[in-house]
Amino acid sequence: MNKDRPPLLELRLQDYMPGPPEKKDYGIGAVGCGNIARNAHQRAYANCGYRTVACYDIKREAAESMAKQYGIPTVCNSIEELCQHPDVQIIDLAVHANIRRKVMAQVVKAAGPQLLGIFSQKPFAMEFKDAVAMVKMCKKAKLPLMINQQARWAPNHRALKHVIDTGMLGHVYSIVHFHRSFQDNPNSWVSKLRNFNIVDHGCHYIDLLRHFSGKEPVRVKCTANMQPGQASVTPMCHTVLCEFKPSDKLAAMSHFNNIIRVGQMHGYEWFVDGTEGSATVDRGKLTVCFLSRPDYVQTVQLRGAWFPDAFGGSMGEMMRALNEKREPMTSGADNLKTIRIVEAAVISSKTGRAVDLKSIK
Ligand SMILES: NC(=O)c1ccc[n+]([C@@H]2O[C@H](COP(=O)([O-])OP(=O)(O)OC[C@H]3O[C@@H](n4cnc5c(N)ncnc54)[C@H](O)[C@@H]3O)[C@@H](O)[C@H]2O)c1
Repeated sequence: MNKDRPPLLELRLQDYMPGPPEKKDYGIGAVGCGNIARNAHQRAYANCGYRTVACYDIKREAAESMAKQYGIPTVCNSIEELCQHPDVQIIDLAVHANIRRKVMAQVVKAAGPQLLGIFSQKPFAMEFKDAVAMVKMCKKAKLPLMINQQARWAPNHRALKHVIDTGMLGHVYSIVHFHRSFQDNPNSWVSKLRNFNIVDHGCHYIDLLRHFSGKEPVRVKCTANMQPGQASVTPMCHTVLCEFKPSDKLAAMSHFNNIIRVGQMHGYEWFVDGTEGSATVDRGKLTVCFLSRPDYVQTVQLRGAWFPDAFGGSMGEMMRALNEKREPMTSGADNLKTIRIVEAAVISSKTGRAVDLKSIK
């Protein structure tokens, strides 16, 4: 390598755009046919050529209308019927987190011999103890479990991860995320769910901090407060600071303001700093700079989008893991580490003290 002119970033579409696996003909059975299942999962699966063979929702009309929209051949009358359907090999669970443990137990109990695995929406659970119980029940039933932390497969996040993995930034010592949006809608389930912001939505960014750094924090500090006139039952604005072992030489933070009323000021950005360079990514643009080239700023306009492309990528990972008989990247066991951090953040936000992750059992 020529030290005076190190190579500039080469980013090909296949380096960051998630794609389907070679074997993708698994039969998918959808449980929960609400907003995310219909507008993201099924859209992405149709684009990737995945096969949803049956669906079920406690509101039959929701299942019927999703089946009609995407040409899903069977609408089941119960979870048991879906889990024993001869063509259903992967359960695609998209119910809310506060009922996930109960529904997962029904799935595990009803699973027919044709069932190969469970793919569950995030957040895995609102409380760590429920996540642990679900990992145990799936392990006992020998059913592979993947949590759909699909943000890891969003094209912009994959592009940033690619840059980090090339080593071109040197030792990454700082990862910071800013999120500016609005979800304080009084008519939505979001505003009624306790700890929605930190656990339900915020878990994406905590999981990404783990993914980008490849490291696990030891302690977490979080501040959160109610804002004037907010509809949601718990704070819509918080900051999570992750503390790592001194030898990790890493600082990481996620600041999430989800109650910005002026849409013109919404935004989304990651800042990653290393000893040899820095990178930032927003929803569609990656920027990199290197220490060795002070005059040089490289920007890449990225293709694709989190919704729906990431959802094809995460289900693709579930299928790849089944093909290769290995644990999926965001398995239930892996996701316990994400849920442990968000639970620590909730406790910290309420007590005002830093929470040691070892204390979350
Ligand atoms: N990954 C993401 O980016 C993302 C985005 C939005 C939502 N989500 C997650 O997806 C989950 C669902 O969110 P949503 O927006 O689709 O909610 P939603 O309310 O639109 O849909 C939930 C569906 O589950 C059905 N349901 C409830 N109980 C059921 C049961 N026992 N069996 C079968 N179906 C049942 C409901 O009738 C409803 O149709 C939540 O956990 C949410 O956090 C993830």
